[in-house]
Amino acid sequence: FRIAVLASGRGTNLRALIAAIAANRLDARIAGVFSDRSSAGALALAAAGGIPAKALSPRGFETRLAYDEALFSLIEGVQPDLIVCAGYMRLLSEHVVDARRGRMINIHPSLLPAFKGLHTHRQALDAGATVHGASVHFVTPELDGGPVISQATIPVLPGDDEEALAARVLTREHPLLVDTVGLICAGRVALSGRGQVMFDSAE
Ligand code: GRF
Repeated sequence: FRIAVLASGRGTNLRALIAAIAANRLDARIAGVFSDRSSAGALALAAAGGIPAKALSPRGFETRLAYDEALFSLIEGVQPDLIVCAGYMRLLSEHVVDARRGRMINIHPSLLPAFKGLHTHRQALDAGATVHGASVHFVTPELDGGPVISQATIPVLPGDDEEALAARVLTREHPLLVDTVGLICAGRVALSGRGQVMFDSAE
């Protein structure tokens, strides 16, 4: 089962996938890591793991769509069965998302549908949330709006600031992403034509 990972940042979620595969806890291989930023730590992690890693700068592309189509032609070049957005910080064009409905997931640091977008921990604190967490969802054209597959919850503790909350959520993201990718690799989760997440409980 071939996975392509899209990341813009330091890549701790990617690192969790790499570690799970190395520990035989995930029966898959990361066929490529792609980023919009050549400085992304995720690219260095990939390279260190002998995984093909490519950065494609949005500069020089006239439109978002032109960039996305160039990026996704690189991604399709490694023939992924699943595309994992793990800290990818650009909005994806509807066209490239629609063409991959059910084949692309994203991990988002909130309990969707709450707190879509950026600065989710700040949003949670401002809202006085007492629980918070992370969600893995199928990617649809609506930002952070796709059908949720799995979630992990954490308590918001008195005195929590954004940094403390982000750290507590991040530690739960890693096993959540690994477990969710594992279910998809095993064919236990799929997106129905009507946009429902279907779990196959058959052993
Ligand atoms: C994670 O919190 C993820 O949920 C969000 O951005 C962060 C990525 O972290 N999309 P990393 O690059 O995987 O460490």
